[in-house]
Amino acid sequence: MLTDAVNYIRKITDFEPEIAVVLGSGLGELASEVENKITIDYKDIPGFPASTAPTHIGRLILGELSNKRVAIMQGRVHLYEGYTASQAVMPIRALRLLGADKLLLTNAAGGINEHFDIGDFMVIDDHISSFVTSPLIGENDDLLGTRFPDMSKTYSKRLTDIIKKTADENNITVKSGTYIQFTGPQFETPAEIRMAKLLGADAVGMSTVIEATAAVHCGYETAGISLISNLACGISKSPITSEEVSETANRVAPIFKDLIKKSVGKF
Ligand code: HPA
Repeated sequence: MLTDAVNYIRKITDFEPEIAVVLGSGLGELASEVENKITIDYKDIPGFPASTAPTHIGRLILGELSNKRVAIMQGRVHLYEGYTASQAVMPIRALRLLGADKLLLTNAAGGINEHFDIGDFMVIDDHISSFVTSPLIGENDDLLGTRFPDMSKTYSKRLTDIIKKTADENNITVKSGTYIQFTGPQFETPAEIRMAKLLGADAVGMSTVIEATAAVHCGYETAGISLISNLACGISKSPITSEEVSETANRVAPIFKDLIKKSVGKF
């Protein structure tokens, strides 16, 4: 399956990406900045899971961004769409086989840390995977990675420092913290958010942990940024809606785009 996808892309182009970027909810705009681009719809790539989420387009964009060769995933699939964890991370593995060895994961997330505001960016320092399944369950593909990967350096300090420094130089405030993933699709209850907070989580979402896990397994140097699109349940006084998530993402998208573009140039 993985080799079918890689072979399909290889038939279209011999482009070798250095950096893979996954764009989350409402953040897909960055794709328009890519130069000399080749666009491939996920639905045309054998085995690529097609996104069913309303705000997620399913397109792979290969080209140049800030003088780096990038593979941008405009849209991802989630566990709540019914995919297994291993199906959901399949594109990330395919891009690794195409040549990318650095990965930037982005997402919209709910803010748990009381010092976070709506519209903030949080660089992901670490994550909690305990409430979702692992994409590594099942027979190990030794060509991709080891059976029991070490997770002590899931998010690269080098890449994370580049993002923080770039933000600083451009007067963009970034916070940092721990991301926790739940399966969704329902947003969390106040009790779940109290639990997540007790466990040390600063932001909550439905995507990135399984991707970062697969990324470590297959040898990517990985970084992650969350856009705090809403305050998590119980911290927010009002009900959470997917419209609020998209509205915040759209509002801060230009700053986000700037931060990613400039950071990727230094990866
Ligand atoms: N919870 C889970 N996922 C999310 C949230 C949230 O509050 N906001 C954006 N994605």
